[in-house]
Amino acid sequence: MSKILVTGGAGFIGSNFVRMLLNGSDHEVVNLDALTYAGNLENLTDVASNPRYTFVKGDIADSAQMDEAFAAHRPDLVVHFAAESHVDRSVLDATAFVRTNVQGTQVLLDKSRIYKTKRFVHVSTDEVYGSLGPWGFFTEDTPMQANSPYSASKAASDLLVRAAVHTHGMDCVITRCSNNYGPYQFPEKLIPLMIANALEGKHLPVYGDGKNVRDWIYVTDHCEGIRAAMERGQAGEVYNFGGNAERENIYVIKEILRLLGKGDNLIHYVKDRPGHDRRYAMDSSKARATLGWEPRHTFEQGLRQTLDWYVQNRSWWERVRSGAYQDYYKQQYASR
Ligand code: NAD
Ligand code: TYD
Repeated sequence: MSKILVTGGAGFIGSNFVRMLLNGSDHEVVNLDALTYAGNLENLTDVASNPRYTFVKGDIADSAQMDEAFAAHRPDLVVHFAAESHVDRSVLDATAFVRTNVQGTQVLLDKSRIYKTKRFVHVSTDEVYGSLGPWGFFTEDTPMQANSPYSASKAASDLLVRAAVHTHGMDCVITRCSNNYGPYQFPEKLIPLMIANALEGKHLPVYGDGKNVRDWIYVTDHCEGIRAAMERGQAGEVYNFGGNAERENIYVIKEILRLLGKGDNLIHYVKDRPGHDRRYAMDSSKARATLGWEPRHTFEQGLRQTLDWYVQNRSWWERVRSGAYQDYYKQQYASR
C-alpha cells in the first residue's frame, strides 16, 4: 500500500483516476486541488467517505501551501493532473496556464525532491507534438511543436520534468494522451458540450469546416494507462496513449445527434479557433509492448456509455452550468 498524492483530482480525468484507485487498490489517496472552475467535488461524492481518501484544497503554484501539504502527508508517489486544460480559454488569456502548468509543475517537482517522493508521474498531452497532416502518427520521439498557449505550457512542464530527471536524478514518468471523453467531463469540451446542448435543444457550434480530427479515448482507458506507467513504467521514459479512434469532429457531432434522436438542424458552423490544430493521432505501441496496456473501449461503446451517463446524470451537468456545483465545497468542507 502506498500513499498517492493526486493533484487535480477534482477535475475530469483526475476524479476518474481517484475513483479507480479507491475502488481497485488498497492505496491511500490524497486529492490536492485548488477547485478552480474546472474542479468539482461532486465528481467524487460516491467515494468521499472512503477512509483511504483525503481532500486537501491547495494551489500547486503556491510553494508555502505545497510545503505544508507535503510535510503533512509525505506521499510515496505523486500523480500530477492539475492544470489549466481548455485550449479556448488559453487563446483568450494564457496567464493562468503559465502559472499553474509551468510554475505549478516546478513547485511540485521541488517538493517531491525535498520530501523524497519515490516516483513523480506527470500527466501530459498529445498536443505538445503539434499538428499532423492527413498521414502519420505521433510517437514518443516526435519533436514537441506545441501550437496553442495551452499546449506550449504543457510542453514547458514536460521539459521541466525531463530536467528534474537529468539534473537531480529524480524518478519521473511522463504520459501523453489523446483526447479523453466520458463521465464527469466539464461541458465546455467538445463531446459533453454537444450532448448537453443537444439535450437542451441548443445550437451545436462546429469550428471551421468540422473536419479537424481527434483520436478519442475513453477516460478509464487513459486512467489504466497512467496506473500502468506509475506501476511499471521506466524512470525517465515517456509513454503515449491513444484510443485508436480517429474521427472528424463533424462525424462525432452527427453521431451524438443520431444517438439522441435529434436532427442535424441543431448544427451551426461558427468561426474557426485561431491556430486550430488539424489532426492528432497517437502511436501507442510502446505502451502496449512495454506496459501491457491497451484501451478496452471502442469509440462506439465509449460514446454510447458517455451519452447514457449524461442522460442519467442531468443534474450533475445542470449544476455545473448554473454554477451551483461551486457551493458543494463550502457546504461539505469549509465549515469543518
Ligand atoms: P480538468 O480541467 O477537468 O481538471 C483540472 C483540475 O486541476 C481541476 O480540478 C482544477 O481545479 C485543478 N487545478 C487547476 N489549477 C490548479 C492549481 N493551480 N492548483 C491545484 N489544482 C488546480 O482537466 P482534465 O481534462 O481532467 O485534465 C487533467 C490532466 O490531463 C491535465 O494535466 C491535462 O493537460 C491532461 N490531459 C487531458 C486530456 C483531455 O482530453 N482532457 C488529454 C490528455 C492529457
Ligand atoms: P476540445 O474538446 O476543446 O479539445 P482540444 O481542443 O483539446 O482537442 O475540442 C475538440 C475538437 O472539437 C477541436 O478540434 C475543436 C472542436 N470544437 C468545436 O468544433 N466546437 C466546440 O464548441 C468545441 C468546444 C470544440
